[in-house]
Amino acid sequence: MQKGLFITFEGADGCGKTTQLNLLKNYLEAEGFDVLVTREPGAKGLGEKVREILLNYDGEVSDRCESFLFLADRAQHIDIIVNPAIKKGKIVLCDRHTDSTVAYQGYGRGLNIEQINMLNNLATNGRKPDLTFVFDVDIETSMSRVGNQKDRMESAGKEFFNRVRQGYLEIAKKDPQRVKILDATKTIEEVFNDLKLIFNETLSR
Ligand code: TMP
Repeated sequence: MQKGLFITFEGADGCGKTTQLNLLKNYLEAEGFDVLVTREPGAKGLGEKVREILLNYDGEVSDRCESFLFLADRAQHIDIIVNPAIKKGKIVLCDRHTDSTVAYQGYGRGLNIEQINMLNNLATNGRKPDLTFVFDVDIETSMSRVGNQKDRMESAGKEFFNRVRQGYLEIAKKDPQRVKILDATKTIEEVFNDLKLIFNETLSR
């Protein structure tokens, strides 16, 4: 049986991570791997309801409440979806995970990073990604890709997204073995070639 793997895709809104995730899924399936594509927040069931609140609730949401909702979704997602799939030997490709909370709620909203790390650890029960791709792109490009129809998180403003971007760069600096930065201003094909190189290098380790 193939060994399970947990790979996460991160970056600011409009960075192109979901496109790359799907390209990797197709590539791996063509190679005969058993792949599960999932996401946070809101993979399925209860998570979808939490996602709906997080992205579309139009009343006031405190920063701490927002964090706990993302973390609640994560605990459910790890227990119900991610861990069982890894146990079955699947390659799990996850659109956003713990680094999103550090980048968005920590660096973006300004909550305490140490506390977020601790809460992330609680939510994941210690499960860590084997590999994380961060798709780095300037704010002008990512916002133009998002367009005018913005959800609650996407409406947080330019300053916020600059902090989120810097947050991701800091995360990668602190954990270079796991977290790999890709230049997401390149074309889709170029980014995917860069991604494959890193992926194959990591797998062969
Ligand atoms: P998505 O549109 O990439 O699925 O992400 C949903 C939004 O939620 C996106 O704006 C990032 C945000 N988010 C956080 O702020 N904290 C988190 O922990 C996660 C998982 C997502």
